Amino acid sequence: MLQLTNKHILLGVTGGIAAYKSAEIIRRLQEHGANVQVVMTKAAQEFITPLTLQALSGNPVHCDLLNPAAEAAMGHIELARWADLVVIAPASADFMARFANGQADDLLSTLCLATNAPVAIAPAMNQAMWHDPATQQNLQTLNDRKISIFGPGEGSQACGDVGPGRMLGPDEIVELAAKQFQSNILDGVTVVITAGPTREAIDPVRYISNHSSGKMGYALAAAAVECGAAVTLISGPVALETPDRVNQIDVESAAEMHQSVLDQLGICDIFIGAAAVADYRPILAANQKIKKSAESMTIELTRNPDIISAVASHEHRPFTVGFAAETQNVEEYARGKLENKKMDLIVANDVSDKEIGFNSDNNAVSVIWKDGMKSIPTTSKYQLSRILIAEINAHYKK
Ligand code: C5P
Repeated sequence: MLQLTNKHILLGVTGGIAAYKSAEIIRRLQEHGANVQVVMTKAAQEFITPLTLQALSGNPVHCDLLNPAAEAAMGHIELARWADLVVIAPASADFMARFANGQADDLLSTLCLATNAPVAIAPAMNQAMWHDPATQQNLQTLNDRKISIFGPGEGSQACGDVGPGRMLGPDEIVELAAKQFQSNILDGVTVVITAGPTREAIDPVRYISNHSSGKMGYALAAAAVECGAAVTLISGPVALETPDRVNQIDVESAAEMHQSVLDQLGICDIFIGAAAVADYRPILAANQKIKKSAESMTIELTRNPDIISAVASHEHRPFTVGFAAETQNVEEYARGKLENKKMDLIVANDVSDKEIGFNSDNNAVSVIWKDGMKSIPTTSKYQLSRILIAEINAHYKK
């Protein structure tokens, strides 16, 4: 089984006879666990109908850039952010030319400019068109821009010619798509990540907690595994599935999370504190359910240990990365935490913006270190986690 579970693949279909194979690509991607949205150019619709690809993908097919109804359902920027990977198969000579020139004259070419996700193309055309210096120049331009080129294969063509220009088969394309999610930058590195909220018991049935969904920490765990790391995810209670190949330890309270994290020190190379740890807990959790009687009651709280500070001051200190959710003076407050908690790197986000942060699927952050910072604009939490893992790795290796 290839590693495409829950990956968002945006399949672009352009006008060429190989477009009939796009139907099979959708099936194969789904068999490997991917979620597929399809974007078709006008010419593609002459070869295969949007209805066919809609029925197979289970999602509406997107064809128009300037259609208010389509934009209201899922706008082009939303679609660009949704994608973890864009695969254009088949990619015609015309599409390659438009893409190489950075044109944005239809939905697909616009998406290619708007997305942060990697883009791959599977060219398909007559061998003479493939050999033409204009196509070869466009290919070079796309190569220089780090666009992945899948194929083309060689052999007999629909037009009767023999030579290069045949689109790769659906299985080969899906295998190459899966490879886009793998790298070995963290081979041999052990990463420990905390995620989700903690629950601080008031009595056996009640607790104090927060709205953390755990999505960011889980996405980071998945991205670190894809980069070759051995990952332990220490998670508070959330409604998320453990990512493939991640060792998960479930905890409830901050005290349990603290102990589980300390148990990992010595073997941990990189620690990422993405959990929203409760700062306080009730001094005493009642053994039995507290009965209501008085009109008001007081629960006395005491401070929880600061897990990330304990990690960063430990004798077996790993490279330490924290998060700061702020509603104002984001950079200033985050820098304060970076220093006070002795972290190496802090990822700051503005949670006053409802579009990003807690519970949302998107996020925009600033990565801040002692003498620098880098802003990462709004993108999916998965896509962001891949960028963050690459950034963390670069600082760790320094
Ligand atoms: O101080 P603040 O809670 O904003 O700091 C956020 C960072 O500190 C996050 O990385 C969070 O996981 C970590 N933290 C912790 N233990 C606590 C509180 C926060 O590790 N008790």
